[in-house]
Amino acid sequence: MDATYLRPLITQEEIAHELKKVASQIKNDYRGKDLVIVMVLKGAVCLVADLIREIDLPFALETVQCSSYGARGTERGELQVIGLDRLHIHNRDCLIVDDIFDSGRTLAFAKASFETRGAARVLTCVLVDKQVPRAAGIVPDFVGFTCPPVFVVGYGLDYRNRYRELPFIGELAEG
Ligand code: IMP
Ligand code: MG
Repeated sequence: MDATYLRPLITQEEIAHELKKVASQIKNDYRGKDLVIVMVLKGAVCLVADLIREIDLPFALETVQCSSYGARGTERGELQVIGLDRLHIHNRDCLIVDDIFDSGRTLAFAKASFETRGAARVLTCVLVDKQVPRAAGIVPDFVGFTCPPVFVVGYGLDYRNRYRELPFIGELAEG
């Protein structure tokens, strides 16, 4: 493999600034509701940690893990939401928070799973909306940034479980 390089795309300051805007949109939408914030592990860890300190609303915090397993390890196959069974979401207002919206399959599937279990309303929030053609049928309700169709890491986003700790978001590429 050629050397990899990291090209900064979104700075730490830009993230902090944008999060305040997203938090205030969420606050306006969920005021007076029985809010359950559901963090999608592990990529949303930085986003949720920062967001919950900005929204200034009462809420319950829960986690799920979304995974896809295919016939071959690397292939995207059947989706699964792990941890749904132990959540109390019936008749409650859920906000699913993930790091990035790519094809949208993950959040479309997670949203449908929550609705099947009787959630009153399910909205989605991502830090990054990747600009790719898609047919998932949903768009995220709260979005921080858009990014080009490249592979990005940092601020929770990983490549093989690495780079999550970077305070900024950058493109990981070979060159
Ligand atoms: P989707 O189901 O295609 O929308 O994929 C969303 C999931 O794929 C995210 O929750 C991430 O875990 C992962 N993902 C997609 N694009 C990237 C990327 O550029 N960097 C890191 N993870 C990504
Ligand atoms: Mg993910």
